[in-house]
Amino acid sequence: MPDHLIGLLLGAEEDWPQAFEAILGRVGDIKLSDGSTHTFRSERLTIEPFDLMDPVRTELVIDRLAYWYYHPREWLKKAAMVNGTYLLNSPFTFQSMEKHSAYCAMLRLGLKVPKTILVPYKNPVDNVRWAYTSKKYNKAFDLDKIAEELGYPMYMKPFDGGGWRGVSRINNREELHKAYDESGEMLMHLQATVDYEHFARALSIGAETMVMKFRPDEPMHNRYAVSHGFLSEKAGSEAMAISRIVNAFFAWEFNSCEMLVAGDDVYPIDYANACPDVAVTSLHYYFPWAISALVRWSVFTLATGRKSRVDLHTRKYFDIADDESMSYDAKLTAYLALADEHFDSASYWQWCAENLPHLDEQVHDWVTSPDFERLLRETVAATYPVHEQDQFMAHFKGFTDLWAADNKPVAG
Ligand SMILES: Nc1ncnc2c1ncn2[C@@H]1O[C@H](COP(=O)(O)OP(=O)(O)O)[C@@H](O)[C@H]1O
Ligand SMILES: [Mg+2]
Repeated sequence: MPDHLIGLLLGAEEDWPQAFEAILGRVGDIKLSDGSTHTFRSERLTIEPFDLMDPVRTELVIDRLAYWYYHPREWLKKAAMVNGTYLLNSPFTFQSMEKHSAYCAMLRLGLKVPKTILVPYKNPVDNVRWAYTSKKYNKAFDLDKIAEELGYPMYMKPFDGGGWRGVSRINNREELHKAYDESGEMLMHLQATVDYEHFARALSIGAETMVMKFRPDEPMHNRYAVSHGFLSEKAGSEAMAISRIVNAFFAWEFNSCEMLVAGDDVYPIDYANACPDVAVTSLHYYFPWAISALVRWSVFTLATGRKSRVDLHTRKYFDIADDESMSYDAKLTAYLALADEHFDSASYWQWCAENLPHLDEQVHDWVTSPDFERLLRETVAATYPVHEQDQFMAHFKGFTDLWAADNKPVAG
């Protein structure tokens, strides 16, 4: 009777890990058609010295640390390489986990990434040998000419950015030089502006993707809008497809992606997050879905013995990209078929229907329980000043109650 252990490698978060632990605890024993019974537990991992040949007890790790810290990163590499541990996400995919690589891949696949130019560092990097190299080989360039060609307004943002760090919208020459001077030791893209109607943010967990309406100018608690049909059918399925394709292309399992949408056209702009936001204070309505998806994907992976796949198969994608007889839509369909093959999408949903039919009801029961209310209250208390806590508690409870009303399990 396989007893599967899931490791959580955590930073400062308490909300989603507690939710994950609660929902995983409600999965119960899963008896498969081959007669085997599977059980699931999770454990929060600690940072300790390790022998590179030590056994690893966790078969799967959900990681929230390794993008920033080397010790857990190197432990994950060892676990993946020596012990076959399945990772969300694998550090072996980090090298390409920035906007720049994702832009390059998407452009190569013919997707509508706005025109983007990478300019050299404003300030020399902090390395004694760089001064010589820079003096000898850094070629002078005309920033204004590049900007004229891109056209104002444009965006300047770090090639590996996240969370609006160093992002500016630039309307004229003066702002351009000011922003570039201030970029200092950050490596910057200049990007053409997309005039968009809708901002879509897609959160992907394994084979599951949720495309959500996002309002980047709102404060965090209000950025995700609960809106189910805000995109045209075509743009909605394209947003989902692009997210899954890019994740499969780079072997990312847990990622969020941002797209600007005008009519039926989808323009991807922000496509690599090693540690996507899953806080209840930002996802609210979508939080129960996100945590259920993390549980479903983890349980499916372990019970079916899914193996980690981080080898890139770029050639398969490029062969489609290079086929001149195929339209944009036909290429997307063909890329999506590769992505669905990578994520085992069809067998995933069938497996969940057969083996986790009780999970929706369990999640609903938990989200409407006093334990969930306690978690929400503690999270609000840890996030907001005392005089705002009642207001935010009502705000988030309103959204999760709405989710519960919309997702009542069918009786019987
Ligand atoms: N090409 C663009 N056209 C229009 N708006 C953009 C563009 N690029 C970025 N923005 C705006 O700037 C914000 C931050 O840019 P983004 O690429 O998402 O960087 P970050 O990784 O810091 O979130 C976006 O949410 C969007 O509102
Ligand atoms: Mg962004």
